[in-house]
Amino acid sequence: MQPILEVRDLSTYYHTPRGPVKAVDEVSFTLHPGQRFGLIGESGSGKSTIALSLLRLIRPPGQIESGSVRLDGVDLLSLSDEEMRQKRLADIALVSQGAMNSLNPVTRVRSLMEDGFRNHEIELSSEESEQRIAALLGRVGLPPTVANLYPHQLSGGMKQRVCIAIAISLGPKVIIADEPTSALDVVVQRRVMQTLRRVQEDIGSAVILIGHDMGLMAQFADHVGVMYAGKLVEEGPVRQIFAQPQHPYTQLLMDSLPSLDSRDMSGGVAGQPPNLLAPPPGCVFHPRCPYAFDRCRVDVPKLQMAAPHHRAACHLLDEKEKIAA
Ligand SMILES: Nc1ncnc2c1ncn2[C@@H]1O[C@H](COP(=O)(O)OP(=O)(O)OP(=O)(O)O)[C@@H](O)[C@H]1O
Ligand SMILES: [Mg+2]
Repeated sequence: MQPILEVRDLSTYYHTPRGPVKAVDEVSFTLHPGQRFGLIGESGSGKSTIALSLLRLIRPPGQIESGSVRLDGVDLLSLSDEEMRQKRLADIALVSQGAMNSLNPVTRVRSLMEDGFRNHEIELSSEESEQRIAALLGRVGLPPTVANLYPHQLSGGMKQRVCIAIAISLGPKVIIADEPTSALDVVVQRRVMQTLRRVQEDIGSAVILIGHDMGLMAQFADHVGVMYAGKLVEEGPVRQIFAQPQHPYTQLLMDSLPSLDSRDMSGGVAGQPPNLLAPPPGCVFHPRCPYAFDRCRVDVPKLQMAAPHHRAACHLLDEKEKIAA
């Protein structure tokens, strides 16, 4: 199967007066049509920066330094601003972190949704538009009358459903949902995630779900990527990541979870994440890694196969191979 999204060696830095913050550092991964890819990692590890980079929504002092982001074969990083604007929403849509609280408060849901059609020069009669909006709201489990409401009249769960309805309104191939439910209570979270999953399956788009909640992640994702200090340190099928994590960071993360059921990872692993202005040499995780040896302090580990479809960036994999040989 041809991948729908291929991210290669993506680096995005924030240029601060104290120097460049390497928020995303040579990240590569591939997404297949219909796949649900979960991106996890502690706060500040670069998850939102990846999301914003894929949509080219990084604002100064942030800057995409290098890499490629191929959506259906087209490198988004090579498009003009206007071409990119056309891709957004139509081909790749973002439910951004905090989106539900940034809905324009003086605009009714109807107009928020019509903006998407208008920005993509989709000409609809008012009747057609009304029907489409009702259908989209229906898909996310909301009655058509929600179109008449202002954001402040909606509960948190309803707002998030509206954000999802907007994201799917033009049938994108890829949807990125950045912590879409972290502000909601657990029951509402689960329902919203079920809705996201249902619409994703209906329209056949691939989803990148960014999150902290391992319970939700285990339920939603089929493939998981683990970010640490701007690097993708492990990725693989969700069951393998949970049952047989290969990177010591992921192992510690899994050990620190009291149970998989709705546990937040933010309490997590002992020690502090590195300063991204001056990341440690070698493996970024080595100062916190219980297994670090000499090579880890000088050599940057590359992602390598640990099992079928399962990659990790850790020198221990080479050592294991040597022992096995
Ligand atoms: N505008 C900015 N200027 C300077 N540094 C920034 C800026 N925005 C983000 N950063 C830094 O980039 C790094 C990655 O941030 P990012 O928001 O991508 O992390 P995250 O994984 O999404 O975290 P969270 O889980 O808290 O949402 C962090 O170290 C952050 O401090
Ligand atoms: Mg974030």
